[in-house]
Amino acid sequence: MRILIAYLSYSGNTEEVAAYIGDYLNKEGITVEWHRIGIDALSDPADYDLVFLGTFTWERGATPDEVKDFVLEVGYKPENMVIFGTGDTQFGGDDLFCKAADKLAHFYGSSYPALKIEQSPRGSQENKIEQWLEGVLNHAKSYA
Ligand SMILES: Cc1cc2nc3c(=O)[nH]c(=O)nc-3n(C[C@H](O)[C@H](O)[C@H](O)COP(=O)(O)O)c2cc1C
Repeated sequence: MRILIAYLSYSGNTEEVAAYIGDYLNKEGITVEWHRIGIDALSDPADYDLVFLGTFTWERGATPDEVKDFVLEVGYKPENMVIFGTGDTQFGGDDLFCKAADKLAHFYGSSYPALKIEQSPRGSQENKIEQWLEGVLNHAKSYA
């Protein structure tokens, strides 16, 4: 399986989730390639079996500009995108929580629901990431 993890993170929470996903996949024997949005040169999502796209949510549920630029740069809607995001329910409650991740999953017609993590994934939410990843991998294998 060829996997790309693309993410944007300002204060480190989304990066922590990305790193957790990378470590988990490595333990499963899967090699991961990385794309730091706004920094690295873009690879074509079509070259991968799965692309994990991670973002935080910005003011009033907004998708960060760098992620919007990434979407434009990709230029089409790959069918292999799975979305993860971090957010904070203090900014607008459940309605706006990780709204950017939800919007991206909808935009790409992701065949698996977005993973939504409150702030840092450390602690009890690690379990949530693992369960989500098991689901994503099983789902991907069933379509392979
Ligand atoms: C100005 C500002 C606005 C935010 N608005 C939202 C929001 O509407 N919804 C949400 O879920 N989180 C919101 N957040 C929380 C961030 O998405 C959250 O802290 C996230 O984990 C940051 O990711 P990062 O550490 O990868 O940069 C906001 C944070 C800031 C500073």
